[in-house]
Amino acid sequence: MTVNIEQLQAELASKNPRFILKKALSLFDNIAISFSGAEDVALIDMAVSIRKDIQVFTLDTGRLHPETYRFIEKVRKHYQIQIDILTPDRNVLDEFVKHKGLFSFYEDGHEECCKIRKVEPLRRRLATVDAWITGQRRDQSVDTRQDIPEVQVDSVFSTAKNQLVKFNPLLNWKSAQVWDYIEANQVPFNELHNKGFISIGCEPCTRAILPNEHERAGRWWWEESTKKECGLHVSDNKPTN
Ligand code: ADX
Ligand code: SF4
Repeated sequence: MTVNIEQLQAELASKNPRFILKKALSLFDNIAISFSGAEDVALIDMAVSIRKDIQVFTLDTGRLHPETYRFIEKVRKHYQIQIDILTPDRNVLDEFVKHKGLFSFYEDGHEECCKIRKVEPLRRRLATVDAWITGQRRDQSVDTRQDIPEVQVDSVFSTAKNQLVKFNPLLNWKSAQVWDYIEANQVPFNELHNKGFISIGCEPCTRAILPNEHERAGRWWWEESTKKECGLHVSDNKPTN
C-alpha cells in the first residue's frame, strides 16, 4: 500500500494517541505493536478496543527482569491476545557469549549485545509487516527523542522490497499522562514501577532512579546520555521533512 507520509504526518501532528492508533489501524491490516513490557502497555489497552486481534510482539533478550516476564504473561491473559515472544539467533548468541561473556557491555558498550539480542530479532519480525507501532515519547529523552514525528518511513528497517511505516502514538504524551491513563483505565502494569523503576529495559542495564533524576538515567547508566539508544530507534529519530 502506498501512503503519502508527509500528508499523513500533517494530519497526525500533535494528535492524541487514540487518534493516531485508529488512523494507523485503518490504513494498515498487517501492523504490529512493539511492546517493551513497560508503560507502553497503554498502547495495547487502546488498540484492543479498536482491533481485538491486534498483533503484538516483544523482544525477549533473555536478560529481562523476572517481573517483566511475569508482566508480559499478565498482559497476554488480561487482554486475551497472542504475544510473539522473539528470541535472538541462537548460533550468533552462543558465539558472542562464548567469546565475550555475559557482561561485555559494561566494558565495551551496549551496542554489540543489543544488536544481537534486540535489533536482529526485531529486523526479522519487521520484515513480515507493513507498519509497526512503538511507545516512544518525546519526554523520554532530551538528547535523542525530541524530533520524532508521529509517523515516519522507517529508514532503519525498510528494505528495497518493503517500505516500512512506523507510528509513535504516545509521542506527545508526558509520562504523567500515560500514568493517568493506566490508572483511570485499570490497566495492568509492571511491578518494577512500584520499585523505583521508570524506564525499563534489560536487568543488567536498567536500574531504579532517584527522585528528580531523568527516567533514562537508569538505562545504561555507565554511558553518556547521548548514547542511550539501543538501535531499535536510534538512526530514525529525525523528522520526515
Ligand atoms: S529502548 O530503545 O531504549 O530500549 P524504550 O525502552 O525507550 O526503548 O522503549 C521505547 C519503545 O521501543 C517501546 O515502547 C517499544 O515500542 C519499543 N521497545 C523497547 N524495548 C522493547 C522490547 N524489548 N520489545 C519490544 N519493543 C520494545
Ligand atoms: Fe544486552 Fe543490555 Fe542491550 Fe539488553 S540492554 S540487549 S543486556 S546490552
